[in-house]
Amino acid sequence: MSHVVLLADDDAAIRMVLNQALTRAGYEVRPTGNISTMWNWVSRGEGDVLITDVAMPDGNAFEVMPKIKKLRPDLPMIVMSAQNTFMTAIRANEVGAYEYLPKPFDITEVLSVVARALADAKKPTTGQRNADEVGETMPLVGRSAAMQEIYRALARLMQTDLTVMITGESGTGKELVARALHDFGKRRNGPFVAINMAAIPRDLIEAELFGYEKGAFTGANARSSGRFEQAEGGTLFLDEIGDMPMDAQTRLLRVLQEGEYTMVGGRSAIKTNVRIVAATHRDLGQMIRQGLFREDLYYRLNVVPIRLPPLRERVDDIGDLTLHFLRVAQREGEPVKTITSDAIKLMQNYSWPGNVRELENLVRRLSALYADESISVEIVQNELNIAERPQVNSGGGPVDVSVAVEAHIGQVLGEYEPNLPPAGLYQRVIDRVEAPLIAMALNACGGNQIKAADLLGLNRNTLRKKIRVHSIEIVKHSRRNG
Ligand SMILES: Nc1ncnc2c1ncn2[C@@H]1O[C@H](COP(=O)(O)OP(=O)(O)OP(=O)(O)O)[C@@H](O)[C@H]1O
Ligand SMILES: [Mg+2]
Repeated sequence: MSHVVLLADDDAAIRMVLNQALTRAGYEVRPTGNISTMWNWVSRGEGDVLITDVAMPDGNAFEVMPKIKKLRPDLPMIVMSAQNTFMTAIRANEVGAYEYLPKPFDITEVLSVVARALADAKKPTTGQRNADEVGETMPLVGRSAAMQEIYRALARLMQTDLTVMITGESGTGKELVARALHDFGKRRNGPFVAINMAAIPRDLIEAELFGYEKGAFTGANARSSGRFEQAEGGTLFLDEIGDMPMDAQTRLLRVLQEGEYTMVGGRSAIKTNVRIVAATHRDLGQMIRQGLFREDLYYRLNVVPIRLPPLRERVDDIGDLTLHFLRVAQREGEPVKTITSDAIKLMQNYSWPGNVRELENLVRRLSALYADESISVEIVQNELNIAERPQVNSGGGPVDVSVAVEAHIGQVLGEYEPNLPPAGLYQRVIDRVEAPLIAMALNACGGNQIKAADLLGLNRNTLRKKIRVHSIEIVKHSRRNG
């Protein structure tokens, strides 16, 4: 006998598409456009799995789902919504959804989730946290596919105490995610304590983490609590974990293994109950290979990895984020501003080395510095040019390669402070210069390798080898002067 899928969505086109696909996959489908019909079926004990939209003409699925969960705890509920926000993912999870699928959805994914839900339904279910007050504040903005993945991962993590490792470039929102994990998780009533390894002198990190007893070292005039103690019952956010000195790493590892720590200068072990969330913008894998980070600590921390994509990989979010930051500025007393769609498009073509933080700062400047009510493409162009490495390409004048290289190396060195970048810096820098040199010379010669070798003053075989090494694509075209 085939499984029965209850399908509630007020969009007739979606009902039709899903109905067809599910029927073809061998399910019996009951489609409806309203909640009351869906509830009638459910309360009569019909259906093996439910797929439901959130907002429907006669109500909101999030309101009936707790009732369904109570009446039929084994009925898997799959939520689909076009309101693809962090809060939707969290709410879906809280009302006991089996899975949350953002619209537009992928039919194959729906089918595989349905199959998985039915297979899992036979297993005993774990207790679900009942829905209680959740503020309507939206901590994370952006509805791109990349962020949907993050929201779903976060929603699943909310009821757990698992250790989370957040990685991502600077300004991608790592701290914001760490806070969201706490604020919407089961420890939300406990403290959230952050410690930034990069901001504390290296020899004080252990005292900061574990506290110290009076007289532990010169200047320790009184007992002082550490971050572990302050975070008891809550979340400890270990920010910039890649900057933790080796000896502190060893000590932290022991605490994580044993669940207890001793204060600096202290004798007795103190039990700890904290949820650990760590973050870094560094490549810990590489640091491990260089002997700068303990592999065993890495595995302790990297229980659930979350990678925040750089903003240039989710340009779909730029519009939402800009509007969000404009609204924030407005709340802080700046005048109401709008932004043209061309301006947003221009922003989507920018590379955002500073990610969301850079965007946030840009919007702040735009709302404070310009009198115009509407932010135009020219204004944005103007601001982005100033922000974009001023010495290198200001005003279209000749670009000085050595200045650009200096700026680049300065940035690389700064990123690894106080350590050194991985070995092989010479070749990496030369590669960075060589690849565009060869690509552009080839392009200038219409893709003709003989001419390009001449232009560059390179042997043809050498050029061929370099094209291969840098995977340069050759586009043949004719040039004005042959
Ligand atoms: N998805 C988002 N929605 C709204 N605001 C965001 C989002 N992501 C980041 N921000 C904002 O951008 C700024 C930078 O975020 P955050 O400090 O969390 O980044 P980070 O990854 O910790 O950066 P760093 O590595 O430099 O410490 C913050 O003001 C934060 O509120
Ligand atoms: Mg940070």
